[in-house]
Amino acid sequence: MKSIKNWDNKTWLSSKDYINSFNKFLIKHSNLNSSSKILDIGCGRGKILGNLSTKLKLKNRPIGIDIESHKDKDKKIFFKKIDGINFFKANNKRFDLILIKQTIHLLKMSEIKKLIKFCKNNLLPEGQIFIFTLDPVKNEIPTFKKMHQKLQYSLNKDKKIINFIIKNNKCISKKFIYKVKVKKQKYLKMVKDKYISTLLDFNLKDIEKGCEEIRLKFKNEINFRDKLRCVVIKK
Ligand SMILES: C[S@@+](CC[C@H](N)C(=O)[O-])C[C@H]1O[C@@H](n2cnc3c(N)ncnc32)[C@H](O)[C@@H]1O
Repeated sequence: MKSIKNWDNKTWLSSKDYINSFNKFLIKHSNLNSSSKILDIGCGRGKILGNLSTKLKLKNRPIGIDIESHKDKDKKIFFKKIDGINFFKANNKRFDLILIKQTIHLLKMSEIKKLIKFCKNNLLPEGQIFIFTLDPVKNEIPTFKKMHQKLQYSLNKDKKIINFIIKNNKCISKKFIYKVKVKKQKYLKMVKDKYISTLLDFNLKDIEKGCEEIRLKFKNEINFRDKLRCVVIKK
């Protein structure tokens, strides 16, 4: 699969407001403090981890890993360019929190099983794994027709992943909802930049046709709820 380069590249997903409310949610539902050891698998530019480090005054630099290395990564994190499974093969650290946000659907089912096993084996005694996926039910991500079909396919995979995790682990389930207001022009740029994995395989013609549909379908300001499902696995 082609890699995601523009997910958190100056989008609402990298805005201060989004990251603050996401981390508020994370802190409220976890047992994090300044001594916590944190790993983020698929951290992107690491802005969530960097903000978490400031908020919690973390004594240990949080670790962020990703298969893509961006020039504008957050300086407060320790970054490693590696995938989750290979990271754990060489890792001897244990963590209080392992975060996997909007990344797990990019892995094959066999890799997901392996990764979760590794994560559980690398937790400290009170440690937790927080896995976030797009909410597969009543998702409101603005789409055009072809994008909608592809997104539905991906959301069905998310459903299967969530069911697999819930069936095989001691866990609790939560929802994180963020109200997005984005200018149509900005969203069109995000679509052209293929911000979401759903768009990665689309060619120029698909994107141009999709942008035309979005121009007609939405007002100048697009309002929707970015809804995530969160599954928390305990050791
Ligand atoms: C949709 S983005 C989410 C980024 C970040 N977690 C966030 O929510 O802002 C998915 C990220 O996962 C990374 N990724 C894909 N496969 C991965 C793997 N096997 N191991 C680690 N990271 C991976 C991608 O490069 C991308 O940065």
